[in-house]
Amino acid sequence: MKTVLDYSQAAEGILAEASFDRNYFGKIESIFCQGNGYLGIRNVTEEQYWGESREMYVSGTFDRASGDTVPELPNAADVLEMKLILNGCIFTLQEGNILAYRRTLNLNTGECVRKVRWRSPAGDTLALEFRRIVSLNRLHVIAQQISIAAEERAVSVCIETGVNGRITNGGEQHFSRNAKRVREGRFLEYIQVTGESEIPFFFHTAISLFLNGESFFVPCSARRERRRLFARYNTEVPAGKTLRIEKISTVHTGLDAEFAGLSWEQQAQAAFVCCREANELGYRQLADDSARAWEKTVWKRGAVQIESKDPFDALALKFAQYHLHVMTPAHDERMNITAKGLSSDAYRGHTFWDTEIFILPYYTFTHPDMARRLVRYRCLSLESACGNARRNGWKGAQFPWEAAGPNDGETSSEWGGPDLFTGEFYRMPYGQTEIHITADVVYGLRQYVAETGDEAIMEDGGYELVFQTAIFWVSRLQCGPDGLLHLYGVVGPDEYKNDVDDNAFTNYMAHWNIRWAVECCDKLQIEHSSLYRALDKRLDLARARGIWDAALRKMYLPQPDEDGIIPQTADYRSLKSIDLSAYKFRERVGSITDDYTWEELHGMQVSKQADTLLLFTLLGDYFSKEQKIANWHYYEPRTLHDSSLSLCTHSILASDVGDLPLAYTMFRHAAEIDLGPNMSSSDEGIHAASIGGIWQCAVLGFGGVRIRGGMLQITPALPNSWEKLSFFLWWHGCRIHVSAAHDRLVLENISGTKSVLVQVQDRIYTLDETLSIPLCNLN
Ligand code: BGC
Repeated sequence: MKTVLDYSQAAEGILAEASFDRNYFGKIESIFCQGNGYLGIRNVTEEQYWGESREMYVSGTFDRASGDTVPELPNAADVLEMKLILNGCIFTLQEGNILAYRRTLNLNTGECVRKVRWRSPAGDTLALEFRRIVSLNRLHVIAQQISIAAEERAVSVCIETGVNGRITNGGEQHFSRNAKRVREGRFLEYIQVTGESEIPFFFHTAISLFLNGESFFVPCSARRERRRLFARYNTEVPAGKTLRIEKISTVHTGLDAEFAGLSWEQQAQAAFVCCREANELGYRQLADDSARAWEKTVWKRGAVQIESKDPFDALALKFAQYHLHVMTPAHDERMNITAKGLSSDAYRGHTFWDTEIFILPYYTFTHPDMARRLVRYRCLSLESACGNARRNGWKGAQFPWEAAGPNDGETSSEWGGPDLFTGEFYRMPYGQTEIHITADVVYGLRQYVAETGDEAIMEDGGYELVFQTAIFWVSRLQCGPDGLLHLYGVVGPDEYKNDVDDNAFTNYMAHWNIRWAVECCDKLQIEHSSLYRALDKRLDLARARGIWDAALRKMYLPQPDEDGIIPQTADYRSLKSIDLSAYKFRERVGSITDDYTWEELHGMQVSKQADTLLLFTLLGDYFSKEQKIANWHYYEPRTLHDSSLSLCTHSILASDVGDLPLAYTMFRHAAEIDLGPNMSSSDEGIHAASIGGIWQCAVLGFGGVRIRGGMLQITPALPNSWEKLSFFLWWHGCRIHVSAAHDRLVLENISGTKSVLVQVQDRIYTLDETLSIPLCNLN
């Protein structure tokens, strides 16, 4: 496979693009995406090319492009664009000669550096260096620094740059109005407002020029065009000297919490002041401050380190953690993580179960404060989840399969198509049927509370969320001819099976959800009677508790058959079997649909992604090791891994059942979804859930971290090629450093004032300060 990715600096945490290739823009734009959870920008170059995707998203700013569309994140105006005319030649790598080229993304600091030696069509040899950060500590700031060194003779430089609002979501324009002005003679101000949700976006930008480090002034001539405001600066670089251009821009929106209560005029003023301050600091200071923020908030608190033969593995972990922080709106509980992070508008910027099942564990174990906001987002959505259930004819709270703002309810499209060839519209029932999301949300809350002990969140909406979801499940259950309660007409995680009955994953998760509601009810009654009474008055808890108990007894839970296999759906085992080897691990996912229709897929023993097996990683206590192994051997060969969510689950489960070589192979496959040599796999953005899954493979899989019966359990088993794995965990307010080798586990209670009970293999230890525990091979 041809690739321009270069892993030679992997050990330093640096990802590199070794040569310029227009075929691979999509990959580089996505995996080099920069951001801070407030905003995310695809890594496009300053100069424009055909085929690139200039995209920037600001978390939470949903808008409907027209009445019958679902809300999506609008692609905001472009502040990166810069046209450079050097001795009369427009700088573009499509002309002249590229003498040297390398673009790197330093995952430690978030800084991207592109170095190019270019011989222009006019015959000038120029060394250009482009640096860029999206600040992690100043959430609104995007800083660029461009250096141009004239090697042989003086070069005239014309810079044209500003804010370009001629940006759309694949042609769909979300911004109906805009306003432009120049402040204090040099700050360009561009305001655009979303059409339906009326959210103002404020862009400010200015440039500063330096010759061999000395600042100098060039008057700017500003021009406004339709949806575009830009300025031109003319100067010269003498031979042997370097011109440095700094462009510091800021982005704010009317959703910003600090703007609450301010008029648009006041918001614009505050945004402008922010940009002016950032410009006073300059690129280097901004980049250094941001690098320090990465060190303090990300790496010092939660870095995973791997000592292994192949530095790619450590790079994969660094890559995952970098992107987790680029994509997560940790600053505001009204927002959540989207399926492609902030690197694309695929999936419209919506939130799925990807958050709770694949990403949240990273935050609960390493950044509980950020995890809390992600969980709170679901508490804020409770009312609209109740509305969603009512609209669908159920009681309680049904969380949306696809979510946008907390009050937007279900945002998946009900209809797809029309089909290109038949012209027919097809129904996409996921919003109605992929109901396991409701239990997944509750599972995320449960994990968060178990790991942090944060009872306050339960009192502040958590209990009600658990009760309302249990009410939903019992209203959704239907009594079957066998007298048991069933879930009919659902879609499980395996979306190649539509409208199925008794999907094992959904049934067990719903059962678990109701069971936790019963436990919460009893606990609340004893420990917090006033809250119990308040909720009882509204939800009739005393009666509900009886119904839940009965439902738990009568609910149908698919049991292992004579071969030990838990049927994924009622009829799965009787479906036709085919040889899937031609479709597994292909460069293009979904290649099976070239040969089989959706109807045919529905009738075959073929799964898109982990379904029943995922259950074993979430509710491990419900099943024996033998059952896990039997089901692994049955389901894995039938799973195409056509969803990026699949491989990490398989890796963790392979670790659980003791097949470390396979766990490692699956981990590598998962890591290679975005980071591997397939140069088209990330065109539509990074795979957020899989990125959370990479961390899980290391910490939950090889690190063996689990919560069992309310206790922390760490049972590491490293793959052969790893010498050591170390990571941090927060557990009930204590920070623990875990360092695992093949034969020994060292635990350090770093910040804790209290001791922690921890189970390692089959023994329970009290961790006060440090423990060094010999490990025996359990497999
Ligand atoms: C997967 C879902 C996932 C969604 C967003 C789909 O292809 O099947 O499980 O939630 O993508 O990542």
